Amino acid sequence: MISSFISRVSEHVGQEIELKGWVYNFRSSGKIFFLQFRDGTGRIQAVFSKAGTSEEVWNALQSLRIESSVVLAGKVKEDSRSPSGFELDGMSLRVIQLAPDDYPIGKKEHGPDFLLDNRHLWLRSEKQWAIQRVRNTIINATFAYLNEIGFIKIDSPILTPNACEGTTELFEIDYFEWTKAYLSQSGQLYLEAAVMSLGRCFDFGPVFRAEKSKTRRHLTEFWMMDAEAAFVEHEGNLAIQEGLILRIVKDVLTQNRKELAILERNIEALEKVQAPFVRMTHAEAVAKLRGMGSDIKDIDDLGADDETMLTKLYDRPIFVEKYPAVVKAFYMKRDPQDATRVLNADLLAPEGYGEIIGGSQREDDYDMLLARIKEHNLPVEPFNWYLDLRKYGSVPHSGFGYGLERITAWICGLEHIRETIPFPRLINRITP
Ligand code: 4AD
Ligand code: MG
Repeated sequence: MISSFISRVSEHVGQEIELKGWVYNFRSSGKIFFLQFRDGTGRIQAVFSKAGTSEEVWNALQSLRIESSVVLAGKVKEDSRSPSGFELDGMSLRVIQLAPDDYPIGKKEHGPDFLLDNRHLWLRSEKQWAIQRVRNTIINATFAYLNEIGFIKIDSPILTPNACEGTTELFEIDYFEWTKAYLSQSGQLYLEAAVMSLGRCFDFGPVFRAEKSKTRRHLTEFWMMDAEAAFVEHEGNLAIQEGLILRIVKDVLTQNRKELAILERNIEALEKVQAPFVRMTHAEAVAKLRGMGSDIKDIDDLGADDETMLTKLYDRPIFVEKYPAVVKAFYMKRDPQDATRVLNADLLAPEGYGEIIGGSQREDDYDMLLARIKEHNLPVEPFNWYLDLRKYGSVPHSGFGYGLERITAWICGLEHIRETIPFPRLINRITP
Protein backbone atom coordinates (compact mmCIF):
# COMPACT_ATOMS: atom_id res chain seq x y z
CA MET A 1 0.00 0.00 0.00
CA ILE A 2 1.33 3.45 -0.96
CA SER A 3 1.27 5.94 1.90
CA SER A 4 0.42 9.38 0.49
CA PHE A 5 -1.18 12.78 1.05
CA ILE A 6 -4.35 14.33 -0.34
CA SER A 7 -2.26 16.98 -2.10
CA ARG A 8 -0.68 14.19 -4.14
CA VAL A 9 -3.68 12.02 -5.06
CA SER A 10 -3.47 13.13 -8.69
CA GLU A 11 -0.26 11.06 -8.93
CA HIS A 12 -2.10 7.93 -7.84
CA VAL A 13 -5.19 7.66 -10.04
CA GLY A 14 -6.22 4.00 -10.19
CA GLN A 15 -3.92 3.06 -7.30
CA GLU A 16 -4.69 2.03 -3.77
CA ILE A 17 -3.30 4.47 -1.23
CA GLU A 18 -3.27 5.01 2.50
CA LEU A 19 -3.98 8.42 4.06
CA LYS A 20 -3.67 9.50 7.70
CA GLY A 21 -5.83 12.28 9.11
CA TRP A 22 -9.16 13.32 10.58
CA VAL A 23 -12.84 12.86 9.86
CA TYR A 24 -14.47 16.24 9.41
CA ASN A 25 -17.90 15.01 8.43
CA PHE A 26 -19.84 12.00 7.23
CA ARG A 27 -23.26 10.90 6.11
CA SER A 28 -24.72 7.54 5.41
CA SER A 29 -27.60 6.26 3.34
CA GLY A 30 -27.59 2.87 5.06
CA LYS A 31 -25.90 1.19 2.11
CA ILE A 32 -23.37 3.87 1.23
CA PHE A 33 -21.15 5.78 3.62
CA PHE A 34 -19.68 9.15 2.58
CA LEU A 35 -16.64 10.04 4.66
CA GLN A 36 -15.29 13.61 4.50
CA PHE A 37 -11.66 13.44 5.34
CA ARG A 38 -8.77 15.88 5.75
CA ASP A 39 -5.08 15.23 6.29
CA GLY A 40 -3.53 18.71 6.62
CA THR A 41 -2.75 18.95 2.91
CA GLY A 42 -6.35 19.01 1.72
CA ARG A 43 -9.80 17.48 1.84
CA ILE A 44 -11.24 14.51 0.02
CA GLN A 45 -14.33 12.29 0.12
CA ALA A 46 -14.09 8.54 0.52
CA VAL A 47 -17.12 6.50 -0.46
CA PHE A 48 -17.70 3.06 1.10
CA SER A 49 -20.44 0.67 0.03
CA LYS A 50 -21.78 -1.83 2.55
CA ALA A 51 -21.64 -4.55 -0.06
CA GLY A 52 -17.98 -3.94 -0.85
CA THR A 53 -16.73 -3.44 2.72
CA SER A 54 -15.91 -5.94 5.45
CA GLU A 55 -18.24 -6.03 8.42
CA GLU A 56 -15.47 -4.86 10.71
CA VAL A 57 -14.78 -1.76 8.60
CA TRP A 58 -18.47 -1.06 8.12
CA ASN A 59 -19.00 -1.16 11.89
CA ALA A 60 -16.01 1.12 12.43
CA LEU A 61 -17.57 3.59 10.00
CA GLN A 62 -20.89 3.52 11.88
CA SER A 63 -19.12 4.33 15.13
CA LEU A 64 -17.23 7.33 13.75
CA ARG A 65 -17.50 10.80 15.30
CA ILE A 66 -16.47 14.12 13.88
CA GLU A 67 -12.75 14.86 14.34
CA SER A 68 -11.80 11.27 15.12
CA SER A 69 -8.33 10.45 13.81
CA VAL A 70 -8.12 7.59 11.33
CA VAL A 71 -5.99 5.76 8.80
CA LEU A 72 -7.88 5.36 5.58
CA ALA A 73 -7.21 3.19 2.55
CA GLY A 74 -8.91 3.49 -0.80
CA LYS A 75 -8.52 3.55 -4.54
CA VAL A 76 -8.09 6.96 -6.16
CA LYS A 77 -10.45 7.90 -8.95
CA GLU A 78 -11.06 11.10 -10.81
CA ASP A 79 -14.39 12.73 -10.05
CA SER A 80 -15.34 15.92 -11.81
CA ARG A 81 -18.13 16.68 -9.28
CA SER A 82 -15.81 16.83 -6.30
CA PRO A 83 -14.09 20.13 -5.52
CA SER A 84 -10.68 18.45 -5.43
CA GLY A 85 -11.36 16.61 -8.70
CA PHE A 86 -10.77 13.25 -6.98
CA GLU A 87 -12.53 10.78 -4.76
CA LEU A 88 -11.53 7.59 -2.97
CA ASP A 89 -13.25 4.26 -3.32
CA GLY A 90 -13.07 3.38 0.36
CA MET A 91 -11.46 0.05 1.18
CA SER A 92 -10.52 0.04 4.82
CA LEU A 93 -10.44 2.26 7.85
CA ARG A 94 -8.59 2.07 11.13
CA VAL A 95 -9.50 4.39 13.97
CA ILE A 96 -6.50 5.88 15.78
CA GLN A 97 -8.59 7.71 18.35
CA LEU A 98 -12.34 7.92 18.53
CA ALA A 99 -13.44 11.43 19.49
CA PRO A 100 -16.50 11.83 21.74
CA ASP A 101 -19.71 13.05 20.19
CA ASP A 102 -19.41 16.63 21.39
CA TYR A 103 -17.00 18.41 19.07
CA PRO A 104 -17.70 22.03 20.00
CA ILE A 105 -17.44 23.55 16.53
CA GLY A 106 -20.39 22.61 14.40
CA LYS A 107 -22.28 23.68 11.38
CA LYS A 108 -24.20 26.44 13.10
CA GLU A 109 -22.93 30.01 13.26
CA HIS A 110 -20.72 30.67 16.28
CA GLY A 111 -19.89 34.10 17.67
CA PRO A 112 -16.29 35.35 17.57
CA ASP A 113 -15.75 34.89 21.32
CA PHE A 114 -16.82 31.26 21.20
CA LEU A 115 -14.57 30.61 18.24
CA LEU A 116 -11.62 32.38 19.87
CA ASP A 117 -12.14 30.41 23.11
CA ASN A 118 -11.90 27.32 20.94
CA ARG A 119 -9.09 28.60 18.76
CA HIS A 120 -7.12 25.38 19.28
CA LEU A 121 -9.93 23.54 17.47
CA TRP A 122 -11.15 26.38 15.23
CA LEU A 123 -7.75 26.26 13.47
CA ARG A 124 -8.90 22.98 11.88
CA SER A 125 -11.76 24.67 10.01
CA GLU A 126 -11.32 24.99 6.30
CA LYS A 127 -11.19 28.77 6.22
CA GLN A 128 -8.63 28.90 9.02
CA TRP A 129 -6.59 26.27 7.23
CA ALA A 130 -6.64 28.40 4.07
CA ILE A 131 -5.57 31.55 5.93
CA GLN A 132 -2.54 29.86 7.49
CA ARG A 133 -1.48 28.56 4.11
CA VAL A 134 -1.68 32.04 2.56
CA ARG A 135 0.26 33.41 5.54
CA ASN A 136 2.95 30.80 4.84
CA THR A 137 3.20 31.91 1.20
CA ILE A 138 3.57 35.55 2.29
CA ILE A 139 6.44 34.60 4.60
CA ASN A 140 8.17 32.55 1.91
CA ALA A 141 7.71 35.28 -0.73
CA THR A 142 9.25 37.78 1.68
CA PHE A 143 12.33 35.66 2.35
CA ALA A 144 12.74 34.82 -1.35
CA TYR A 145 12.38 38.39 -2.60
CA LEU A 146 14.64 39.94 0.02
CA ASN A 147 17.31 37.27 -0.40
CA GLU A 148 17.23 37.78 -4.17
CA ILE A 149 17.93 41.50 -3.82
CA GLY A 150 20.78 40.97 -1.38
CA PHE A 151 19.19 41.21 2.06
CA ILE A 152 20.63 38.98 4.77
CA LYS A 153 18.27 37.59 7.40
CA ILE A 154 19.48 38.53 10.85
CA ASP A 155 17.74 38.09 14.18
CA SER A 156 17.12 41.00 16.49
CA PRO A 157 16.54 40.56 20.23
CA ILE A 158 13.12 40.41 21.81
CA LEU A 159 14.26 41.39 25.30
CA THR A 160 15.44 44.97 25.01
CA PRO A 161 16.58 47.70 27.38
CA ASN A 162 14.78 50.57 25.60
CA ALA A 163 11.87 51.56 23.37
CA CYS A 164 11.92 51.65 19.57
CA GLU A 165 8.46 53.01 18.80
CA GLY A 166 7.62 55.26 21.75
CA THR A 167 7.42 54.54 25.45
CA THR A 168 3.66 54.38 25.98
CA GLU A 169 3.10 50.99 24.37
CA LEU A 170 5.83 48.97 26.05
CA PHE A 171 5.44 45.67 27.86
CA GLU A 172 7.74 45.90 30.84
CA ILE A 173 9.16 42.90 32.67
CA ASP A 174 11.45 42.42 35.66
CA TYR A 175 14.82 41.29 34.36
CA PHE A 176 16.03 39.37 37.40
CA GLU A 177 16.59 41.62 40.42
CA TRP A 178 18.72 44.20 38.74
CA THR A 179 16.81 45.92 35.98
CA LYS A 180 13.72 46.29 33.84
CA ALA A 181 13.49 44.93 30.31
CA TYR A 182 10.96 45.58 27.58
CA LEU A 183 9.54 43.30 24.93
CA SER A 184 10.66 44.52 21.51
CA GLN A 185 8.27 46.68 19.47
CA SER A 186 10.43 46.38 16.34
CA GLY A 187 13.94 45.16 15.59
CA GLN A 188 14.73 48.26 13.56
CA LEU A 189 17.37 49.86 15.79
CA TYR A 190 19.37 46.61 15.87
CA LEU A 191 19.08 46.24 12.11
CA GLU A 192 20.57 49.69 11.74
CA ALA A 193 23.65 48.35 13.53
CA ALA A 194 23.65 45.18 11.42
CA VAL A 195 23.56 46.96 8.05
CA MET A 196 26.81 48.72 8.93
CA SER A 197 28.28 45.21 8.86
CA LEU A 198 26.22 43.42 6.19
CA GLY A 199 24.86 46.23 4.02
CA ARG A 200 21.27 45.00 3.72
CA CYS A 201 19.43 43.04 6.41
CA PHE A 202 16.01 41.94 7.49
CA ASP A 203 14.55 40.32 10.56
CA PHE A 204 11.31 38.45 11.09
CA GLY A 205 9.86 37.83 14.47
CA PRO A 206 7.24 38.51 17.08
CA VAL A 207 6.95 42.05 18.41
CA PHE A 208 4.82 43.40 21.21
CA ARG A 209 2.71 46.50 21.66
CA ALA A 210 0.85 47.25 24.86
CA GLU A 211 -1.61 49.19 22.76
CA LYS A 212 -4.93 49.85 24.41
CA SER A 213 -6.55 49.78 20.97
CA LYS A 214 -9.46 47.43 20.51
CA THR A 215 -9.77 47.57 16.74
CA ARG A 216 -9.87 45.09 13.90
CA ARG A 217 -6.27 46.04 13.05
CA HIS A 218 -4.50 45.69 16.40
CA LEU A 219 -2.87 42.77 18.12
CA THR A 220 -0.66 43.04 21.21
CA GLU A 221 1.70 40.39 19.82
CA PHE A 222 2.26 40.27 16.09
CA TRP A 223 4.91 39.28 13.56
CA MET A 224 6.95 42.00 11.99
CA MET A 225 9.44 41.95 9.19
CA ASP A 226 11.90 44.85 9.45
CA ALA A 227 14.17 45.51 6.46
CA GLU A 228 17.05 47.97 6.49
CA ALA A 229 19.62 48.98 3.87
CA ALA A 230 22.76 51.08 3.93
CA PHE A 231 23.17 53.67 1.17
CA VAL A 232 19.45 53.57 0.38
CA GLU A 233 17.55 56.84 0.64
CA HIS A 234 13.85 57.64 0.71
CA GLU A 235 13.13 56.92 -2.99
CA GLY A 236 15.04 53.65 -2.99
CA ASN A 237 13.25 52.61 0.19
CA LEU A 238 9.84 52.95 -1.50
CA ALA A 239 11.04 50.99 -4.54
CA ILE A 240 12.05 48.03 -2.36
CA GLN A 241 8.67 48.06 -0.59
CA GLU A 242 6.77 48.19 -3.86
CA GLY A 243 8.77 45.26 -5.24
CA LEU A 244 8.16 43.24 -2.11
CA ILE A 245 4.40 43.74 -2.09
CA LEU A 246 4.15 42.95 -5.82
CA ARG A 247 6.07 39.73 -5.23
CA ILE A 248 3.87 38.70 -2.31
CA VAL A 249 0.68 39.29 -4.28
CA LYS A 250 2.05 37.46 -7.32
CA ASP A 251 3.13 34.43 -5.30
CA VAL A 252 -0.20 34.17 -3.50
CA LEU A 253 -2.07 34.49 -6.81
CA THR A 254 -0.03 31.68 -8.34
CA GLN A 255 0.28 29.36 -5.32
CA ASN A 256 -2.97 29.84 -3.40
CA ARG A 257 -5.85 29.81 -5.90
CA LYS A 258 -7.62 27.09 -3.94
CA GLU A 259 -7.23 28.90 -0.63
CA LEU A 260 -8.43 32.22 -2.09
CA ALA A 261 -11.50 30.40 -3.44
CA ILE A 262 -12.24 28.94 0.00
CA LEU A 263 -11.95 32.45 1.43
CA GLU A 264 -14.19 33.78 -1.35
CA ARG A 265 -11.56 36.41 -2.01
CA ASN A 266 -12.15 38.78 -4.92
CA ILE A 267 -9.20 37.83 -7.14
CA GLU A 268 -9.65 40.79 -9.48
CA ALA A 269 -8.94 43.20 -6.67
CA LEU A 270 -5.61 41.46 -6.04
CA GLU A 271 -4.78 41.37 -9.74
CA LYS A 272 -5.11 45.14 -9.85
CA VAL A 273 -2.17 45.48 -7.47
CA GLN A 274 0.33 46.70 -10.06
CA ALA A 275 3.21 49.16 -10.21
CA PRO A 276 3.39 52.07 -9.82
CA PHE A 277 1.63 52.38 -6.49
CA VAL A 278 -0.26 55.62 -5.83
CA ARG A 279 1.90 58.24 -4.13
CA MET A 280 0.91 61.37 -2.26
CA THR A 281 2.32 63.52 0.48
CA HIS A 282 0.72 63.71 3.89
CA ALA A 283 -0.33 67.31 3.04
CA GLU A 284 -2.05 66.08 -0.15
CA ALA A 285 -3.74 63.29 1.77
CA VAL A 286 -5.04 65.76 4.37
CA ALA A 287 -6.42 68.03 1.64
CA LYS A 288 -8.16 65.09 -0.04
CA LEU A 289 -9.59 63.86 3.24
CA ARG A 290 -10.95 67.27 4.17
CA GLY A 291 -12.60 67.36 0.73
CA MET A 292 -14.34 64.12 1.74
CA GLY A 293 -15.56 65.56 5.02
CA SER A 294 -12.82 64.51 7.46
CA ASP A 295 -11.92 66.99 10.22
CA ILE A 296 -8.24 65.99 10.11
CA LYS A 297 -5.86 68.84 11.03
CA ASP A 298 -2.66 69.77 9.15
CA ILE A 299 -0.39 68.07 11.64
CA ASP A 300 -2.56 65.11 12.61
CA ASP A 301 -1.51 61.56 12.01
CA LEU A 302 -3.93 59.71 9.72
CA GLY A 303 -6.55 57.87 11.77
CA ALA A 304 -7.88 54.44 10.82
CA ASP A 305 -11.01 56.01 9.33
CA ASP A 306 -8.93 58.43 7.26
CA GLU A 307 -6.86 55.55 5.91
CA THR A 308 -10.00 53.60 5.06
CA MET A 309 -11.51 56.54 3.16
CA LEU A 310 -8.32 57.19 1.24
CA THR A 311 -7.74 53.59 0.17
CA LYS A 312 -11.28 53.28 -1.17
CA LEU A 313 -10.40 55.91 -3.80
CA TYR A 314 -7.82 53.73 -5.55
CA ASP A 315 -7.41 50.10 -6.46
CA ARG A 316 -3.65 50.11 -5.82
CA PRO A 317 -1.71 50.51 -2.59
CA ILE A 318 -0.90 54.11 -1.61
CA PHE A 319 2.33 55.53 -0.24
CA VAL A 320 1.56 58.48 1.99
CA GLU A 321 4.89 60.23 2.55
CA LYS A 322 6.43 63.11 4.46
CA TYR A 323 4.36 63.18 7.62
CA PRO A 324 4.73 65.98 10.15
CA ALA A 325 7.80 65.22 12.27
CA VAL A 326 5.81 65.76 15.48
CA VAL A 327 3.61 62.68 14.91
CA LYS A 328 6.42 60.31 13.96
CA ALA A 329 9.31 58.49 15.67
CA PHE A 330 12.53 60.19 16.82
CA TYR A 331 14.81 58.33 14.40
CA MET A 332 13.25 59.59 11.14
CA LYS A 333 15.33 61.93 9.01
CA ARG A 334 13.92 65.40 8.38
CA ASP A 335 12.97 66.37 4.84
CA PRO A 336 15.67 68.77 3.58
CA GLN A 337 12.92 70.69 1.71
CA ASP A 338 10.81 71.19 4.85
CA ALA A 339 12.29 70.63 8.29
CA THR A 340 8.85 70.16 9.89
CA ARG A 341 8.38 66.95 7.92
CA VAL A 342 10.18 63.60 7.78
CA LEU A 343 11.35 61.37 4.94
CA ASN A 344 8.94 58.59 5.80
CA ALA A 345 6.10 56.74 4.14
CA ASP A 346 3.26 54.58 5.32
CA LEU A 347 2.00 52.11 2.75
CA LEU A 348 -1.79 51.77 2.82
CA ALA A 349 -3.41 48.65 1.38
CA PRO A 350 -6.47 49.11 -0.85
CA GLU A 351 -10.10 48.15 -0.16
CA GLY A 352 -10.11 49.99 3.15
CA TYR A 353 -7.34 47.95 4.78
CA GLY A 354 -5.01 50.84 5.58
CA GLU A 355 -1.43 50.81 6.88
CA ILE A 356 0.53 47.64 6.22
CA ILE A 357 4.05 49.12 6.16
CA GLY A 358 5.74 51.91 8.08
CA GLY A 359 9.17 53.05 6.96
CA SER A 360 11.58 55.96 6.67
CA GLN A 361 15.03 57.21 5.93
CA ARG A 362 16.91 57.37 9.25
CA GLU A 363 18.61 60.35 10.84
CA ASP A 364 22.30 59.70 10.19
CA ASP A 365 23.84 62.78 11.81
CA TYR A 366 25.08 62.38 15.38
CA ASP A 367 24.12 65.80 16.70
CA MET A 368 20.70 65.83 15.04
CA LEU A 369 19.89 62.38 16.38
CA LEU A 370 20.98 63.34 19.88
CA ALA A 371 18.74 66.43 19.67
CA ARG A 372 15.77 64.27 18.58
CA ILE A 373 16.27 61.81 21.42
CA LYS A 374 16.18 64.73 23.86
CA GLU A 375 13.17 66.35 22.15
CA HIS A 376 11.28 63.09 22.54
CA ASN A 377 12.20 63.02 26.25
CA LEU A 378 14.01 59.73 25.85
CA PRO A 379 16.92 58.90 28.16
CA VAL A 380 20.21 59.28 26.27
CA GLU A 381 22.23 56.60 28.04
CA PRO A 382 20.39 53.54 26.64
CA PHE A 383 20.78 55.02 23.13
CA ASN A 384 24.54 55.50 23.32
CA TRP A 385 25.15 52.37 21.28
CA TYR A 386 22.65 53.61 18.67
CA LEU A 387 24.39 57.00 18.58
CA ASP A 388 27.72 55.19 18.03
CA LEU A 389 26.40 54.12 14.62
CA ARG A 390 26.45 57.81 13.68
CA LYS A 391 29.96 58.20 15.06
CA TYR A 392 31.79 55.38 13.31
CA GLY A 393 31.22 55.51 9.58
CA SER A 394 27.66 56.86 9.44
CA VAL A 395 25.97 56.50 6.05
CA PRO A 396 22.54 57.37 4.67
CA HIS A 397 20.26 54.43 5.31
CA SER A 398 16.59 53.57 5.24
CA GLY A 399 14.22 50.80 6.14
CA PHE A 400 10.70 49.72 6.80
CA GLY A 401 8.65 47.23 8.75
CA TYR A 402 5.55 45.30 7.77
CA GLY A 403 2.93 43.71 9.95
CA LEU A 404 2.47 40.14 8.71
CA GLU A 405 -1.07 39.90 10.06
CA ARG A 406 -2.14 43.20 8.46
CA ILE A 407 -0.86 41.97 5.09
CA THR A 408 -2.47 38.56 5.54
CA ALA A 409 -5.83 40.13 6.47
CA TRP A 410 -5.73 42.26 3.33
CA ILE A 411 -4.64 39.49 0.97
CA CYS A 412 -7.23 37.09 2.41
CA GLY A 413 -9.92 39.79 2.45
CA LEU A 414 -10.71 39.34 6.16
CA GLU A 415 -12.73 41.66 8.36
CA HIS A 416 -10.54 41.25 11.42
CA ILE A 417 -6.83 40.67 11.97
CA ARG A 418 -7.44 38.12 14.76
CA GLU A 419 -7.99 35.27 12.29
CA THR A 420 -4.61 35.74 10.62
CA ILE A 421 -2.44 34.62 13.54
CA PRO A 422 -2.66 31.11 14.96
CA PHE A 423 -3.17 32.27 18.56
CA PRO A 424 -4.16 35.94 18.73
CA ARG A 425 -3.22 38.09 21.70
CA LEU A 426 -5.60 41.00 22.06
CA ILE A 427 -6.08 43.58 24.75
CA ASN A 428 -8.74 41.33 26.32
CA ARG A 429 -7.44 37.90 25.31
CA ILE A 430 -4.37 35.81 26.07
CA THR A 431 -5.87 32.29 25.86
CA PRO A 432 -5.70 29.63 24.58
O1 4AD B 1 4.57 51.57 11.72
P1 4AD B 1 5.30 50.77 12.75
O2 4AD B 1 5.06 51.12 14.16
O3 4AD B 1 6.84 50.88 12.36
C1 4AD B 1 7.89 50.39 13.10
O4 4AD B 1 7.80 49.72 14.09
C2 4AD B 1 9.22 50.63 12.46
N1 4AD B 1 10.27 50.52 13.49
C3 4AD B 1 9.43 49.62 11.35
C4 4AD B 1 10.72 49.87 10.62
O5 4AD B 1 10.91 50.92 10.05
N2 4AD B 1 11.59 48.88 10.58
O6 4AD B 1 4.95 49.23 12.56
C5 4AD B 1 5.20 48.59 11.34
C6 4AD B 1 3.98 47.81 10.88
C7 4AD B 1 2.75 48.66 10.64
O7 4AD B 1 2.78 49.27 9.38
C8 4AD B 1 1.65 47.61 10.76
O8 4AD B 1 1.56 46.88 9.56
C9 4AD B 1 2.19 46.70 11.83
O9 4AD B 1 3.58 46.89 11.89
N3 4AD B 1 1.59 46.99 13.15
C10 4AD B 1 0.69 46.20 13.76
N4 4AD B 1 0.11 45.06 13.40
C11 4AD B 1 -0.77 44.49 14.25
N5 4AD B 1 -1.08 45.00 15.46
C12 4AD B 1 -0.52 46.15 15.89
N6 4AD B 1 -0.81 46.62 17.10
C13 4AD B 1 0.41 46.81 15.02
N7 4AD B 1 1.16 47.94 15.12
C14 4AD B 1 1.86 48.01 13.97
MG1 MG C 1 3.14 53.00 11.57
